[in-house]
Amino acid sequence: MMRFVVTGTDTGIGKTVFSAALAAALEGYYWKPVQSGLEDETDSQTVSRLGCLPPERILPEAYRLRTPASPHMAARLDHVAITPEALEPPAMDAPLVIEGAGGLLVPLTDSQVFADVFARWQIPVILCARTGLGTINHTLLSLEALRSRCIPVFGVAFIGEEQAETQRIIAAMGQVRVLGRLPRLDPLTPESLLQAFRDHFPVSSFKERMA
Ligand SMILES: Nc1ncnc2c1ncn2[C@@H]1O[C@H](COP(=O)(O)OP(=O)(O)OP(=O)(O)O)[C@@H](O)[C@H]1O
Ligand SMILES: [Mg+2]
Repeated sequence: MMRFVVTGTDTGIGKTVFSAALAAALEGYYWKPVQSGLEDETDSQTVSRLGCLPPERILPEAYRLRTPASPHMAARLDHVAITPEALEPPAMDAPLVIEGAGGLLVPLTDSQVFADVFARWQIPVILCARTGLGTINHTLLSLEALRSRCIPVFGVAFIGEEQAETQRIIAAMGQVRVLGRLPRLDPLTPESLLQAFRDHFPVSSFKERMA
């Protein structure tokens, strides 16, 4: 089974855009287990639009929470109890891209964070990281959090303009494979995204088994 968890060093760094490109390039499915915030376009809708994924390749969210906040808080406001133990990726033969919310230590409940769920799943994680200022610290912290929970790390996907030294030191100190770098795209369209993904990420590397 080819499955990836896409997480990031922070919220708003481009996980959904990257997930749309990856799901499109792999001709796979997309699943956002917990969506917080329903007023603007949801992540599933963005992936459908940017990845040109037909509706059947977007799996329904397990939790749809109204408030754009940490899931533990959004759930409380909606009087919903999240049961992290019950979150289970659907089994399927086709590639599946799963997007977390925010970063690894975002709480789902008062006692569990997203990383606890990823540790149980043991699905290879792709860490999306900005190339800009502050990213070295955030990326190395996220890698520590993954490794301290024995979560398999597939690699880092950079998002932003080329910063060669930043990318080098993260790969070296984080002992992590760099999958590629998605530049900021203007305009960001389904066509420009898929082309940029193909130009910057060898699709074959996602099809290799983990080292
Ligand atoms: N490569 C890119 N080129 C241009 N714009 C981008 C790119 N990546 C992300 N963006 C823009 O940055 C914003 C945040 O991106 P995105 O929604 O993918 O972040 P996220 O990490 O999924 O956030 P969240 O934690 O809320 O799920 C969006 O407006 C998106 O269009
Ligand atoms: Mg997102």
